Amino acid sequence: MRELLENQRSRFERDFFLRLKKTSLKSAPPRLHEATLYALSGANKRIRPVLALETAALANLQDDRAFAIAAAFECVHSYSLVHDDLPAMDNDDMRRGQPSCHKKYGEATAILVGDLLQGLAFELLTLAKLQPVAINYFARAIAAQGMVSGQHLDMENHTTSVRRLHRLKTGRLIEAALNLPLLTAKGSLTLATVRWGRGLGMLFQITDDIIDATSDSATLGKTAGKDAEQNKKTFVRELGLAQAKLAAEKLAMQLANSARVLFAASPLLQQLPAFLLARKT
Ligand code: IPE
Ligand code: IPE
Ligand code: MG
Ligand code: MG
Ligand code: MG
Repeated sequence: MRELLENQRSRFERDFFLRLKKTSLKSAPPRLHEATLYALSGANKRIRPVLALETAALANLQDDRAFAIAAAFECVHSYSLVHDDLPAMDNDDMRRGQPSCHKKYGEATAILVGDLLQGLAFELLTLAKLQPVAINYFARAIAAQGMVSGQHLDMENHTTSVRRLHRLKTGRLIEAALNLPLLTAKGSLTLATVRWGRGLGMLFQITDDIIDATSDSATLGKTAGKDAEQNKKTFVRELGLAQAKLAAEKLAMQLANSARVLFAASPLLQQLPAFLLARKT
């Protein structure tokens, strides 16, 4: 499994930084340019681009479009983390074992890095000539119907359910990374792959909650124990650690079972739930 993931991850990284050179990023003032590359580099697992490359291969999507989609998701994901770490949000000094973007470049630059990355994501998709329907799906998933609304609920609303919170803040982006190549190749989506993507996103955030509560900062590369300290709504807080682990195990098993049918030609997608369940970072 590690090898399958590492293969896709390195394929992505070889393309990503070359692809960025062909965008307007080069026109950014030097310090903003540097801070943006800082936010995109490091010990990133690149799970979202790997998902996109995998379904793109299953659907025989042309490489240029596949890599553009993968790159757009990594830009939005990295922007979400730069903003997530800001003092006004989770106030975290560390990300991927390095000072977080605002610690190194200051808050104003970090805010602008996020803004730039969001614009850059759309530039990447239009350079690869994605259809409006695909860009529309992407736009909704990253903002009002997904990640941004989820982040808002994470900060402010303690009445929402933890499932809804996780589906929005993490689930939609992962769902969309898996499904956007399918939509681009086929012109429509199936409920089964949308649901599978949502489930994988849920599993991803439940395990994020578990490792926040059980691991240490050196292993995680970000500050451990933050969720309890900041009274965040998490699976661990709602269910307790043992039940949160059980929920993750059950979900991982269901996802692996349905992947054998939905993604029969992808050993990576079939093994990914078990890998995410066991992840340490
Ligand atoms: C962390 O995402 C934020 C969540 C959505 C839980 P990742 O764990 O994918 O972060 P990197 O990019 O690999 O550091
Ligand atoms: C972040 O969730 C979800 C995003 C949309 C960025 P967390 O706040 O739990 O992510 P970490 O633990 O800081 O990586
Ligand atoms: Mg957060
Ligand atoms: Mg955080
Ligand atoms: Mg977390």
